[in-house]
Amino acid sequence: MKIDLDFKYKVLINEIQSQKPFDPEVALILGSGLGDFADQTEIIKTISTDSLPGYPKSTVEGHKGYIHFVKLHDKNLLIYQGRIHPYEGYKISECILPVFIAHKLGCKKILLTNAAGGLNPNFKPADLMLITSMNTFNIKKELTDLIGLATEKMKSDFLNFPSERINQIIRDASLEVKVFLKEGVYWFGTGPSYETPAEIKMVERLGGDAVGMSTVHEAVFASTLGMEVGAISCITNYAAGISQNKLSHNEVMETAELVKNKFEKLVKKIIEMI
Ligand code: HPA
Repeated sequence: MKIDLDFKYKVLINEIQSQKPFDPEVALILGSGLGDFADQTEIIKTISTDSLPGYPKSTVEGHKGYIHFVKLHDKNLLIYQGRIHPYEGYKISECILPVFIAHKLGCKKILLTNAAGGLNPNFKPADLMLITSMNTFNIKKELTDLIGLATEKMKSDFLNFPSERINQIIRDASLEVKVFLKEGVYWFGTGPSYETPAEIKMVERLGGDAVGMSTVHEAVFASTLGMEVGAISCITNYAAGISQNKLSHNEVMETAELVKNKFEKLVKKIIEMI
């Protein structure tokens, strides 16, 4: 059954519409530990998500609940400092709220970023990976409830992510600022726990290069709304069983801090070129 998001979030969307200082063109969702990017921009207005009726509360360290309206390179951006994850107990129809808001405010492009564990043997912590494809098997039904009946258009839009045009811009930006990127397939797991070494072996055999607990539903939903989607992972750790280290959220946050400068340089350039 299709969920009526216009009805569900009517009051919330009206509230944001009444507070917005401008119509944003591009939305950016910042992943774990990458939230400081907003400080690199001219912030025109910040809305705390706590003040928005019906906005799910962010419960994860490193995910502040802010929506910033900012200017960067003469572009009007909407930046989410903090995202909503299925592992926090939220439904997919709640996790895609940032994308829905961006769409309602008129954004035609969205850049998604996240922290991920690397399992490709050529990856190491602090690498950045351009996402070339993702799995949706484990959330297809919930995504379909959002998107509606399986029309031919929806079936093809479902696959229309990430955008090849945006990915080419990301590659060009990477060369310009000399922040080199790995490329690979992002494998979504619902969490809340990190994967077991056996699960990582399975993902490896199925063609995954990095694992994480976000982004996929945002990407699919945005592309079915007609937005162009690009996505980048920050490899914050070796996935379970790839190294002897025990996985921890602290390691994720520490590595994200290490890549901060190159991540900011790259994302600034992408926004300039997008
Ligand atoms: N697994 C899942 N999600 C993650 C990881 C990981 O290893 N690192 C950062 N987010």
